[in-house]
Amino acid sequence: MTDLTGKHIVLGLTGGIACYKSAELCRGLVKEGATVQVVMTEAAEQFITAVTMQALSGRPVYTSQWDAREPNGMPHINLSREADAILIAPCSADFLARLVQGRADELLSLLCLARPAERVPLLIAPAMNREMWAHPATQRNMAQCAADGARILGVGTGSQACGETGDGRMLEPEQLLEDVIASFQPKALAGRRVLVTAGPTFEALDPVRGITNLSSGKMGFSIARAAHEAGAQVMLVAGPVSLATPRGVRRVDVKSARQMLEATLGGVPAADVFIATAAVADWRPAEEARHKIKKDGSGEVPHVRFTENPDILATVARHERAKSGALYCVGFAAESHDLVSNAQAKRARKGVPLIVGNIGPATFGQDDNQLLLVDERGVQELPRASKLVLARQLVAEIARRIGA
Ligand code: CTP
Repeated sequence: MTDLTGKHIVLGLTGGIACYKSAELCRGLVKEGATVQVVMTEAAEQFITAVTMQALSGRPVYTSQWDAREPNGMPHINLSREADAILIAPCSADFLARLVQGRADELLSLLCLARPAERVPLLIAPAMNREMWAHPATQRNMAQCAADGARILGVGTGSQACGETGDGRMLEPEQLLEDVIASFQPKALAGRRVLVTAGPTFEALDPVRGITNLSSGKMGFSIARAAHEAGAQVMLVAGPVSLATPRGVRRVDVKSARQMLEATLGGVPAADVFIATAAVADWRPAEEARHKIKKDGSGEVPHVRFTENPDILATVARHERAKSGALYCVGFAAESHDLVSNAQAKRARKGVPLIVGNIGPATFGQDDNQLLLVDERGVQELPRASKLVLARQLVAEIARRIGA
């Protein structure tokens, strides 16, 4: 099962150089299991050919409302009724204006107007020069389009094809893909605020060395993504990892356990759920050398003294917000053996309602995992699956437990 299996997406292209990214986007949608029906405006055909889009989608492209292939002569009705979502990428400034005006003199705007709005979401990925994007007319149109029920996916920032730099680039294909996938996920945590810690910590010995561990952060990042997909506002406190920030998630980067604690406590007053997935170093060097510790040739080795790090999960679990029941705390237990009994003991020791157990060496750095949920009712297994699939299941379980 891929994330878009069984979904039918109408991918609309309008005039803009970002059409070259739509080829990649189309591939991505197909790879995730969607069937893709491409519809292009005349202007889009100036930037990329219908042949390219047909080859990538595996379906002839529609470009005209007079297309004779439809037996009833109504491609705007048929295409909009077959769709599970309509994605306009790129959406030009002109097309945005056309949507706002409810124009219907060419196929793409016509089918947007004809879409059954309660059942078929309209997703918009604008793409234009920064001045065009910043223009009050465009901003006004965008706000109106959103008020009329479309979802504006936002724009990227950076260098533009015209040579200028600023806001208005189309989002990257993988970002748009993430948004389309998210739009189909159940909104079990709508309106809730979720705080997640992820990754390892790095405890410095000197300016160039330190103690860390093999946590990749993938499980925590997947949980942050799944919580956002479920409609939550998500803050992700991340140790040093090289992972892309999930779409829509607010990320705070930290290094040490103490920095992670401080950033986490900053998020606690606004959070409804706290999920501690970080592999926090239990100890740190008692002193951090100001300069690099050098070999002096004597053969003597340095002796490192350790001191204990704060326990972030236990600290948050003692917070009045958690004690009053306003904050639901979830801990992870990475064990090497006796998973159930260790997880049960950890649940009691940390004072949290739910512990998620996994076998540490079998999960660190991997793309899939297997989880054991341990709470007051007993033990529940989430069988081996990708970390994202497990994260979605875990988020659904948490939503159920907090009655969301
Ligand atoms: N945790 C934390 N702060 C710490 C240590 C752990 O917030 N200083 C959190 C982890 O994010 C995880 C849970 O506590 O959610 C369990 O961490 P783990 O390292 O498995 O347990 P420990 O408390 O270190 O116990 P042990 O060493 O016995 O495994």
